[in-house]
Amino acid sequence: MSIQTPRIVILTGAGVSAESGMGTFRDKDGLWTKYDLEDVATPEGFARNPALVHAFYNERRRLLHQGEPNQAHFALAELEQRLPGEILIVTQNIDNLHEKAGSKNVLHMHGELLKSRCEKCGEERHCPDDLSTDRACPACGHIGGMRPAVVWFGEMPLHMEQIDDALAGAEQFVSIGTSGQVYPAAGYVQIARTIGLRTLELNLEATSSYFDAGRYGPATEIVPAWVKELIS
Ligand code: OAD
Repeated sequence: MSIQTPRIVILTGAGVSAESGMGTFRDKDGLWTKYDLEDVATPEGFARNPALVHAFYNERRRLLHQGEPNQAHFALAELEQRLPGEILIVTQNIDNLHEKAGSKNVLHMHGELLKSRCEKCGEERHCPDDLSTDRACPACGHIGGMRPAVVWFGEMPLHMEQIDDALAGAEQFVSIGTSGQVYPAAGYVQIARTIGLRTLELNLEATSSYFDAGRYGPATEIVPAWVKELIS
């Protein structure tokens, strides 16, 4: 990630990948209506039942292998190409669909599904395959400590300082497809507004009164339309 002072900071959430089949968390059929997040997205849940947690993320990984970036991901990648150095995507998503669409300046604040981490030696590496409780760490050989390199509830999100710095130097904050329920990401619109950035929401529906403006509809329609306006 080379970008230092982006002009536009774009926060994305599950809604940007929904039309790629990744599912969302809090919508009617969202993942948190089917699973208890305490069981599958906390360090305590992993300690209690690692096999269940692996099964949950193995399923997410399989869905990701079947999915492709959609028109919203591609439009954001084009925006970065047309405005080089001006765009930073901060995503809460653990999928790699922004990168697959061509975006380069992406920060994954909740980690990445296609990476594993060894709880013993801390080594992280690309891991497109299923994880299991009997998998050995390729670096230190320890068995039983492999986990997805994602951020769980109760753990510290990644790249916080870099995101704060980017917001401090930007002109606009755009939130796409996130319900604004999970901090610190949920607080960025308030920070952005307080320090004088223009704030825009793109979502199926309004999530907060902090945005100066909003455009509502499916991401595959409203994101390309917004990008087209911006670069024309
Ligand atoms: P949510 O499921 O909470 O919110 C999804 C948002 O996307 C909602 O506001 C929907 O209205 C919107 N949406 C759904 N489909 C859309 C579409 N086709 N086009 C545009 N918008 C659409 O997901 P997030 O806000 O991303 O964290 O959730 C944040 C975090 O909570 C996740 O990163 C995850 C979860 O628990 C962890 O697991 C740590």
